[in-house]
Amino acid sequence: MKALIPCAGRGKRLRPLTFTNSKPLIPIANKPLVQYAIDAIKKVGVTDIGIVVGDNTRDMEEVLKDGSQFGVKLTYIPQEQPLGIAHTIMVSKEFLGGDPFIMYLGDNLLQDGLQSAVERFQKNQLHALLFLRHTDKPQLYGIAVVEDDRVVRLVEKPKVPPSNLACIGIYIFSPVIHEIVHKMKPSARGEYEITDAIQGIIDTGGRVEHHTLQGWWIDAGNPEDMIEANRLVLQNLETNIEGYTDEKSDIRGSVRIGRGTRVESSTIRGPVIIGENCTIRDAFVGSFTSIGSNSELISCEVEYSVIMQDCEISHIEKRIDNSILGRNVTITSSSRRPRSHKLLLSDDSEAELG
Ligand code: G1P
Repeated sequence: MKALIPCAGRGKRLRPLTFTNSKPLIPIANKPLVQYAIDAIKKVGVTDIGIVVGDNTRDMEEVLKDGSQFGVKLTYIPQEQPLGIAHTIMVSKEFLGGDPFIMYLGDNLLQDGLQSAVERFQKNQLHALLFLRHTDKPQLYGIAVVEDDRVVRLVEKPKVPPSNLACIGIYIFSPVIHEIVHKMKPSARGEYEITDAIQGIIDTGGRVEHHTLQGWWIDAGNPEDMIEANRLVLQNLETNIEGYTDEKSDIRGSVRIGRGTRVESSTIRGPVIIGENCTIRDAFVGSFTSIGSNSELISCEVEYSVIMQDCEISHIEKRIDNSILGRNVTITSSSRRPRSHKLLLSDDSEAELG
C-alpha cells in the first residue's frame, strides 16, 4: 500500500500566514501540520508516500526533505494547477502504479488512527473506503448516503443535504480509481471532484464502505480552526522539560520546554509547548499555547495562542489571547510620548487592540 498527501492548495483562508508559510508547514503544537498526516500513515506501516505540491514545492522539499527523518520515503509530485482532489490522483498515476493507497488531505487532523479502516479495506476487498463524520454543516462538505456498511450515494456540498454524514479528507482507494478519474469531467466549480470519482466507483458496481469517526476531526483551513487544532493536540501533551527553569517560576500541568530555553520568574500553566532556545522572563504563559523556537517573551502574558518561531513579545500590559503570530513577529511597547500604536502589518493582517 502507498499513500498520497495532496498539499498544493494555496491556503487562501489562512492569509496572511500563507503568504510566507505554506499551509501544510504551519506549526500545530510546534510540528508542521502535514507531519501529523505522515505520522498517522507511517503508524499503519505505509512508508512510500507521494506529496502533491504546487507553488510551494521548494518550501515543502526544504522542510520535509526525503522523509527519512520521519522514517518514510517521500516522492514530490507536481500539480501545476489546483484542479481538484481527483486531479491529484491523475497527476500521481505513475507514482501510485497498481497499488491501493491512502489519500490523506494535508490539512486534516484527527484523533482516531487509521488502523481499523485499513484492516477493513483489506479484509472486505473494497474498491474504496471513506472516512465520514457527523456534521451540523452538511452544505460545506461532500455528503454520503449509507446503507449499513455501504456507501450508496455521494453529493458534493448539497443545498438540500440527504444526510449529515460528511466525507472528511481521508480515503482509501484500490487502483480501480485510475480508470474512473481518467474519464472524468470538471464540475461546475472547475474541479475534478473526488465525490464524483467515488460515485463513479459505485455506479460501476464497486464496493465502497465507510469508517465513521468517533473522535475529533479538524480541517485546519482558517485561523480559528488552527488555534482549535493546537488546543486539541496539546490536550495529549506529555511533560518533558529539557530547558532551564528557575526557582521563582511556577510550572503546572503538562509542559514541554525545549533544549536551551530559559524560563525565569514566570508562570506556565499547561498544556503549553515551548521550543528550543527561547527566553521566557517575568511572563505568564497560559493553557493551550505553543511557542516556536528562538522566541523571547519578556514581561507579557500569552494564552490560547500559536506563536511561531523567532518572535519577540516584550513589555505588553494586556494579555495576548486567542492569537496567531507568524515567524519573526515583534510586539513591544514604547514608554515615549505620544503613547500611540505603531503597526507594520502585511496584507490581510488583523489587529484587535483592547
Ligand atoms: C473537499 C471535498 C469534500 C470533502 C472536503 C473535506 O472539499 O471535495 O468532498 O468533504 O474536502 O475537507 P474542498 O475542501 O475542496 O471544498
